[in-house]
Amino acid sequence: MKARTDTAALNELRKRMLAVPLGPEARERGEVLAVSDGIAQVSGLASARMGEVLRFETGKLGFVLALDEDVIQAVFLDPMAGVEAGSAVERSGALMRVPVGEALLGRVVDPLGRPLDAGPPVAATETAPVERPAPGIIARDFVTQPLNTGILAIDALFAIGRGQRELIIGERATGKTAIAVDTILNQRGSDVTCIYVAIGQRATAVRRVIEAVRDKGPFARTIFVVASATAEPGLRWLAPFAATTMAEWFRDRGGHALIVYDDLTRHAAVHRELALLSRQPPGREAYPGDIFYLHARLLERAARLSAGLGGGSLTALPIAEIETGNLSGYIPTNLISIADGQIVLSQALFAANQRPAVDIGLSVSRVGGKAQAGALKSVAGRMRLDYAQYLELRMFARFGGFGDAAMKARMARGARIGAILAQGRFQPLETAAQVALLAAAADGVLDDLALEAIGPLKDRLGAIIAADPALKAFRDDPSALTPELRAALLDCVRAAAAGRADRKGAP
Ligand SMILES: Nc1ncnc2c1ncn2[C@@H]1O[C@H](COP(=O)(O)OP(=O)(O)O)[C@@H](O)[C@H]1O
Ligand SMILES: [Mg+2]
Repeated sequence: MKARTDTAALNELRKRMLAVPLGPEARERGEVLAVSDGIAQVSGLASARMGEVLRFETGKLGFVLALDEDVIQAVFLDPMAGVEAGSAVERSGALMRVPVGEALLGRVVDPLGRPLDAGPPVAATETAPVERPAPGIIARDFVTQPLNTGILAIDALFAIGRGQRELIIGERATGKTAIAVDTILNQRGSDVTCIYVAIGQRATAVRRVIEAVRDKGPFARTIFVVASATAEPGLRWLAPFAATTMAEWFRDRGGHALIVYDDLTRHAAVHRELALLSRQPPGREAYPGDIFYLHARLLERAARLSAGLGGGSLTALPIAEIETGNLSGYIPTNLISIADGQIVLSQALFAANQRPAVDIGLSVSRVGGKAQAGALKSVAGRMRLDYAQYLELRMFARFGGFGDAAMKARMARGARIGAILAQGRFQPLETAAQVALLAAAADGVLDDLALEAIGPLKDRLGAIIAADPALKAFRDDPSALTPELRAALLDCVRAAAAGRADRKGAP
């Protein structure tokens, strides 16, 4: 009882201390010593804190990136025009905060929540700090619910669970952004709120993403946080942290959110740029020593919360770009070790028109298997085996033909699995259709079809399944595949192959 009173008293004391205005301290004035590419060296602000917002005499904002003995390294969040050596600068007394809440949905904003879509200011009533501690172990629960991407190669082989962090990694133009955007589009029928963060991307690339979501996706449940290649380095640095704060608002209210960081290679580059400009000691590949901690503390904020905290989740899809297949670079290996798995995209597969160009051998999902829908799991294992054997046989087949009929059958089977794994952009497959295709492949239903027939079959399949009253309950909850359901799904695939509109009707 006594201990409790003490805690209460302590809390009261803490509250009162925090309520005391910073007074003269908040009006502490400093002076700019030097300015260079987005950074100012400031003296005279002895009590400024890391991450505190500073106001320059032009009215523009910056924040404290590093504290040296008597000089502060301040990063600009606004154009620095007009700020020069001798300019005055003021503490705000406040750490950086961003608007949070539903008012951000359907908006394109900069990392401070300022509109970039020519709309009115965001009508948020709440703000939250951009740097927040990640949920601790007690606050977390196991990842048990799937986050469906609609991409068969991922949902079947590298299932992603709500609360997971799955890295998407590959060379330039191998479809990294396409996978993330297709995953957002696939949330049209789900309860997941999406946050797309563009870091250092070209404005045209960002516009394409926004337009795709506007045309085909859950635009009204998506937030775009944009710090493009021309934005201040400070904004590019801030973007992933600020966007995560916006995403956490949904997680912390029992909701489900998905955040895409496109991409963290560019974020690492701006972190290095700012570190070098502010004269922090460079380490490996000239990155400062805290680069691992930077991305670890960011991605730790993705989580599935415990039931006591509402059971919400934040799933993270960080993207990393690598040079010429080199997964062992400093930043890629850091990110691979932080994340719960990686989808590796291969330039060779992309060039050979196997798209999405997922490298089955190098990709992995370390927690999502437990979250995968039961029916999908029951057919995916067989497919993985059949396909792996096929890829191996295909290597050997190059050195000479196989006469063996069993070999030929395996090759035919594998080629058909390759064809169902191929998926264009904007062609999501719902779980029931994924199960139907994998069951059909396993049972040889596709073996006699021409490879070219499989694409059109997939296009027709979704509508056939959706029109079937007997499959309605399974579509809503694909957790178990009974023999009857399996037979019905195979009939749907046969109907799609024959060009019929439903599984019973005439051609
Ligand atoms: N599954 C796919 N099918 C067909 N084209 C694709 C597919 N995925 C990506 N593309 C195309 O490939 C190009 C590069 O994709 P993008 O996602 O921008 O690559 P990255 O983000 O890796 O640089 C784009 O023109 C995109 O439309
Ligand atoms: Mg991209």
